[in-house]
Amino acid sequence: MTKPIDSVWELPDHSRVKHEILRAYLDRWMPILSSKFERVIFVDGFAGPGVYKNGEPGSPLIAINALMDFTTKMGLRIPMRFVFLEADGDRYLTLKAVTDELRLELPEYVQLFVENAPFEDEATGLLDNIGSGGSGHLAPSLWFIDPFGYTGFPMKLIRRISKHPSSEVFINFMSGYVNRFKTKEGQQNAMNQLFGRDVGDELQDVSIDGCVSMYRRELLQQTDFRYCLHFAIAQRQKQGESWYHMVFATKHPKGFEKMKEAMWKTDPDGGFRYRARDSESGQLLLFDGPDCEVLRRRLQSHFQGKCVRVEDLEAFVVEETLFLVKHLRKPVLDPLEAAGEIEVIGRTRKNSYKGCQIRFPTQPRRG
Ligand SMILES: C[S@@+](CC[C@H](N)C(=O)[O-])C[C@H]1O[C@@H](n2cnc3c(N)ncnc32)[C@H](O)[C@@H]1O
Repeated sequence: MTKPIDSVWELPDHSRVKHEILRAYLDRWMPILSSKFERVIFVDGFAGPGVYKNGEPGSPLIAINALMDFTTKMGLRIPMRFVFLEADGDRYLTLKAVTDELRLELPEYVQLFVENAPFEDEATGLLDNIGSGGSGHLAPSLWFIDPFGYTGFPMKLIRRISKHPSSEVFINFMSGYVNRFKTKEGQQNAMNQLFGRDVGDELQDVSIDGCVSMYRRELLQQTDFRYCLHFAIAQRQKQGESWYHMVFATKHPKGFEKMKEAMWKTDPDGGFRYRARDSESGQLLLFDGPDCEVLRRRLQSHFQGKCVRVEDLEAFVVEETLFLVKHLRKPVLDPLEAAGEIEVIGRTRKNSYKGCQIRFPTQPRRG
């Protein structure tokens, strides 16, 4: 986004989308981890002032609200540690004031750290301390990295974060800015830090999408993260629009699945992109529903000539595609079976795929 000068600014529509995904993911992430671990950490590395000009919550409050709502609704104890970092002095003071108000309402087992510090220094210190004592492992953590630009979160730091067993990152990758400044004089070092290696003139001819693809590739190659998703968001600016990409990375299929659900929830047609169609209303694009034909083609070409257990098909959908398990049976398998394009083996109950195997013919009939 255009970098605001004020310590508090108006919430633009595109940021609401980012917040929607964050909240949808937290709603899924918190219950899963809290049921298994003694401590769970949410780091908001570029926390902002915590509140927008018209009172809307910023990311730190969104995270606290997710916890409070969940605790109230489910009556469960979530041993959360919130770490909010903000480098700007005025924004930190605002953040401190709004979080201090909430601190009193938090259960005693919830920890809240609010620091006036740059993300890179503080995160490095945190990771150094873990290495020097205890198990050497960080509790399961989600790191929300939401800067104005593309500095302050070098790949070497992301790599360190990824070394911990249940760590995940959700990064605002300012692809439009990266694309605009990638070859500007004096930016080479910043680009090398961001991508984690000497990128030379590789960025020269790549588009905005190419910048994101390259970042994703580097994330998957240089860190321990195995799964990566991104959601494209367009922001309106005086000189047109500029894109940024919310990039999520995890080692766990479950995290991948849950973030996909969060993104599908935000963009039900599965395009994983948002562009304000109308600057007045800021309406999201109209949705047509998921294009499950894409999934059908993918399955047919991948499993052509094979016989596969339904559970393996589901695992493939979750781990290897942008689709969810719910997109498999009714939208894809039912019509394929009706058209005689798959054979369902071992069915014991009408219309059920439970325990079945699916045989894909050597040559699918449609393209
Ligand atoms: C995009 S805003 C954050 C918005 C916030 N995450 C939200 O969604 O409500 C980026 C914030 O990072 C702060 N910032 C800039 N450089 C930083 C750094 N190196 N470390 C931590 N915070 C930084 C800025 O002052 C600004 O408040």
